[in-house]
Amino acid sequence: MASSSASRSPSTSQAAARLSQVSHHMAASASSSSADVWASTPQAPADPIFALTAGYQADSFENKVNLGVGAYRDNEGKPFVLPVVRKAKQILAADESLDHEYLPIAGLPAFVKATGKLIFGADSPAIKEDRVVSIQTISGTGANHYGGAFLERFYEPWLGKSKADKVIYVSNPTWANHKAIFNSVGLTPVDYPYYDPSTIGLALPKFLDFLRSAPQQSVFLLHACAHNPTGVDPTRDQWEEIAAIFKERGHFAFFDCAYQGFASGDLDNDAWAVRHFVSQQIPLLVCQSYAKNAGLYGERIGALNLVATHAGSSPGGAERLRSQLLILQRQEISNPPTFGARIVGMILNDEAMFGEWKRDIGTMAGRIIAMRERLHDLLVNELKTPAPGPNGWDHVVKQIGMFTFTGLTPPQCKAMVERGHVYMTGNGRISMAGINDGNVEYVAQCFDKAVRGTL
Ligand SMILES: Cc1ncc(COP(=O)(O)O)c(C=O)c1O
Repeated sequence: MASSSASRSPSTSQAAARLSQVSHHMAASASSSSADVWASTPQAPADPIFALTAGYQADSFENKVNLGVGAYRDNEGKPFVLPVVRKAKQILAADESLDHEYLPIAGLPAFVKATGKLIFGADSPAIKEDRVVSIQTISGTGANHYGGAFLERFYEPWLGKSKADKVIYVSNPTWANHKAIFNSVGLTPVDYPYYDPSTIGLALPKFLDFLRSAPQQSVFLLHACAHNPTGVDPTRDQWEEIAAIFKERGHFAFFDCAYQGFASGDLDNDAWAVRHFVSQQIPLLVCQSYAKNAGLYGERIGALNLVATHAGSSPGGAERLRSQLLILQRQEISNPPTFGARIVGMILNDEAMFGEWKRDIGTMAGRIIAMRERLHDLLVNELKTPAPGPNGWDHVVKQIGMFTFTGLTPPQCKAMVERGHVYMTGNGRISMAGINDGNVEYVAQCFDKAVRGTL
């Protein structure tokens, strides 16, 4: 029972007073420190793509269209679960033997072994000579992060150099996250010329000159196929020219391959540039993502593949690289996640399922190519919309993959969003995946009015 202060002994009441003083002091210092410790944290800007989606979601206009998001949609505008992925999930769900233990640090062995073959080809000299070191990553973003971090630590020409000298050249423009990722791992991203706004195409001569004049053994990020955001890819002849300069100058190719199969509908075709560079013995690594080509955006399944100078554990050998990649993985995520690796591992290792996957990829790529043709036809033949470049609207059908760089100016893009309710980024990029039979005419009409200044 609580006693009144009058009935306490002097020493008890002194102790109580001291206790109250101490707890008051503690509360005061806790509140002052909690008020202070984050005081200088600035408000970061919202991610532009996700902000665009939020704007779209808040818009009540009936015919609104979202061409900002980089995820495939079916002809009804819905997310698409690949039939082969659905099947793999059913098999996994029925398999009572599967547990929830940690994966090995490098990832699910069946996946890790197969993923390198997908990009390099089973008959690649690098695979046959055991020079490929693969590790499961948190999708393509994680692969880019590890690729940058690994070079930062171990790329021989950079040893002992400062951040300012660890330059990774990235195409102008490039996927918005590249620069942030490379900066975060201690590299300095610097633009190289890639896109020519006057032709809405590749700035090949400037790109080649830049490659020639960059210091020897420079590191260049290359989009293996379906360049994001422009949709402008070099042709095979142009890749050969690019590779020849890499070889001559000893440059390192950091391939980011987020769209294998998604670009042309053919997995091997989309890996052509990577395989050509391997055949030329150009030092390289490849980041892979299964977000787009398997529709596994949320499962975060990807891989980083390094090509070692030779197999084994002597200097430059695959085993040395592998041992360091394991350390990197352990520090960052300890063990990679299981679910996506099981799905992709199953598809890559089962001949029938692999065939089904190729058909599913064909469905996605085919729909996008059909929408390019329809949009082009509407603009050129029906609406006779003035073209933004010297080659008419050909870039709509020539560009490849999920994105089209339309050539629209920033004010035209703004009008598309604000008056047309067609959500697209201010650089003129649209995601073809957001276009379908139900909205292609409306989108074309908005384009037409935006270009004529009547929207
Ligand atoms: C060029 C490029 N690299 C990497 C990624 C990373 O994608 P994810 O982390 O979802 O696999 C993307 C996604 O849009 C991309 O376009």
